[in-house]
Amino acid sequence: MKNLIQQLPKAELHLHIEGTLEPELMFALAQKNNISIPYKNVEEVKNAYNFTSLQSFLDIYYAGANVLITESDFFDLTWAYLLTCKAQNVVHVEIFFDPQTHTKRGITFETVLNGICKALERGETELGISSFLIMSFLRHLSEEEAFETLEQSLPFKEKIIGVGLDSSEVGHPPSKFERVFAASAKEGYKIVAHAGEEGDSSYIWEAINLLHVARIDHGIACEEDATLVQFLIEKQIPLTVCPLSNVKLKAVKCMQEHNIAKLLRQGVLVTVNSDDPAYFGGYVNENYEAIVDALSLSETELKELVKNSFKASFLSAEQKENYIASL
Ligand code: ADE
Ligand code: ZN
Repeated sequence: MKNLIQQLPKAELHLHIEGTLEPELMFALAQKNNISIPYKNVEEVKNAYNFTSLQSFLDIYYAGANVLITESDFFDLTWAYLLTCKAQNVVHVEIFFDPQTHTKRGITFETVLNGICKALERGETELGISSFLIMSFLRHLSEEEAFETLEQSLPFKEKIIGVGLDSSEVGHPPSKFERVFAASAKEGYKIVAHAGEEGDSSYIWEAINLLHVARIDHGIACEEDATLVQFLIEKQIPLTVCPLSNVKLKAVKCMQEHNIAKLLRQGVLVTVNSDDPAYFGGYVNENYEAIVDALSLSETELKELVKNSFKASFLSAEQKENYIASL
């Protein structure tokens, strides 16, 4: 199965580019930019990645992002991720970036966007990896700050396919951002949102009914509400599930208890993704390997998950068909 996972062309739909910052690059950029980080060496960094919750991760993740200053830093970060995609036979990616993590530190929206986009463009021409970029609003910040970010994005609208919602979930429900998502949709952005990662199923209902999402990021809390599961199946609203992330952040006790296989078998359009691979111990192939082992997935089920990764993407119907035909 490990060989098959490697061999199959895959799409990744839930990936925070800041979450691909490997300790080695973190150290190199900290030194280059003269930024102090609270670690002496790579080993110390890895020891710090012992999370007890989403918030315990986010604190470390935002601190890590402080080393990203120049356009070339964002290029290097994105290029390193794309090289890993090439190595893992990931052929299409839809990646998140968190502009507010950087604009709050005085880095311009343009610096961040240009660095990421230059790498994505090179990834398309040199590596043959197609890509879309999704801008995420940080939900622990205010609605007003999200509106400011939306405004800043407008000159670069052609380079951004959609908007998402991430960061600390509990206490910051989708309803807080209903108006800014309506304004984003009016600008032509596609809509996704993290919901039901640590939050309960009401966060998923709100993302569907108030934000009108095209897909849900995580969504594993749907299981507690049979009506919601039926709704997701009927409407084929995709869930971008991140198994290693869920176990690392203790949203799920262990991989054997992850509900992705159960949801797949019920007919939910679930996909496999890595979320923040530098922090959670694996890229997309390691996520597939972990669930195949722990949940005894069959070859047919594995192929179904891979097929879903294209089905749930923002590619055109024709592009989806081409990718799926190549499986
Ligand atoms: N930002 C980066 N990773 C995240 C996650 N798993 N949940 C919420 N916000 C995030
Ligand atoms: Zn995420």
